[in-house]
Amino acid sequence: MTSEASNRSDALVFFGATGDLAYKKIFPALQSLVRRGKLTCPIVGVAKSGWGLSQLVDRAKASVTEYGGLDAEAFPKMISQLRYVDGDYAEKSTFDQVRAHIGDAQRPIHYLAIPPSMFPTVAQQLNASGLANNARVIVEKPFGRDLASARELNATLHGVFPEESIFRIDHYLGKEAVQNILYFRFANAFLEPILNRHYVENVQITMAESFGVKGRGKFYDETGVIRDVIQNHLLQIVSYVAMEAPSSTIPEAIRDEQAKVLRTVRPMSVDNVVRGQFKGYHDEPGVAKDSFMATYAALRMYVDSWRWQGVPFYVRAGKSLASTVTEVMIEFNNAPQVVFKEAAPSMGNYLRFRLGPQVEIAMGARAKIPGEKMVGAPLELSVMHQDQQQGQGTRLADYERLLGDAMAGDATLFARQDVVEAAWAIVDPILHGPSPMFEYEPGTWGPKESDELVKAVGGWNTPTIK
Ligand code: BG6
Repeated sequence: MTSEASNRSDALVFFGATGDLAYKKIFPALQSLVRRGKLTCPIVGVAKSGWGLSQLVDRAKASVTEYGGLDAEAFPKMISQLRYVDGDYAEKSTFDQVRAHIGDAQRPIHYLAIPPSMFPTVAQQLNASGLANNARVIVEKPFGRDLASARELNATLHGVFPEESIFRIDHYLGKEAVQNILYFRFANAFLEPILNRHYVENVQITMAESFGVKGRGKFYDETGVIRDVIQNHLLQIVSYVAMEAPSSTIPEAIRDEQAKVLRTVRPMSVDNVVRGQFKGYHDEPGVAKDSFMATYAALRMYVDSWRWQGVPFYVRAGKSLASTVTEVMIEFNNAPQVVFKEAAPSMGNYLRFRLGPQVEIAMGARAKIPGEKMVGAPLELSVMHQDQQQGQGTRLADYERLLGDAMAGDATLFARQDVVEAAWAIVDPILHGPSPMFEYEPGTWGPKESDELVKAVGGWNTPTIK
């Protein structure tokens, strides 16, 4: 047996089996893993819904049918491996049943697809029943509500599992397009000399969603945009854009660099943030009528490192905006305007990563327009462009990639404790400090007050939708 094989998890137990996440992400990922031969062990769903296995099977069928399609070969295989335990997470008997279902598995992996308030109970029961021995655990974000609670949560998990057995999911790290930031940066020699404060004028990261809170009003109203997507997804992206070259691709090499760079990001202050709320948010089910939770935020951040000192990193995200698109735009300084004195405020030299819905890498440059005059126009050099359908045969969906990696014990694409805590330390001051809230019309790019933040660099680089 190879060491990789002996290290592989040999039973997958997922808590929250009847929930929303299981429906939207987990079952489709499991089916794909079975299809690729990466999941041959028992799969045990646990929940307290008063269900039996047949109901869970129906749910799994509806899930894969809605998300990605039912695979006539893989689906029945997955079902033959599926077991269900209906029980209270606080009861020993629930865990005894899990134990019985995983048989003689030696290295189970427990996926806590449940609200974090239940983590301590489940972790303790896993420990008491012996199911934590030699096991791994996958936890879903949010990892805490701020730095203090994240530390508490980490301490709870560490009471049962060592850090190397904890896999914190940030599904953005599972995205091909996000991994390509890292790859493109460090696989090419020409970028390194210019990705620094001498050449980069500013970096902008936009994560716009044209939809609102989609029935998740209660969750969202306790969370808000900074905890929901900025502290985790967008700061992970900042770390990939800004970090130094890792010494290799081993998980700790990459995660060390992420932690290092995030620790150099200056903690946010209220004068560097603009918060917004879309009109009509208060009417969403589950949202308090007087809610002061932000559905939009724009942040001006500074990475106080040798490489980036003085280069503003603008990060903005919001719900009910003009379109759904996530993009990283690295804008370079203008060429000296001494040879061709053109009036353009920006000479359009940039590197652009579109992370969704399409995957794109592109570079902005200028070229001469045919004719007598030495005048040019901006053009874009496309490095890669994939729409949502392209590359589906080989591209792994984020959850499929992450569950497969966790089962194999590869932690590269998971958030390590110090990375999570460094990210919380950046946003903590603006979570607790008061700042004004600006209303914005749904279907726009957010409150116009956020334009002030980017005035010095000529405004937002709003993603263009073709
Ligand atoms: C989730 C947030 O983590 O990420 C959601 O809770 C958000 O509010 C989602 O919509 C975005 O993920 P993706 O993969 O659709 O860009």
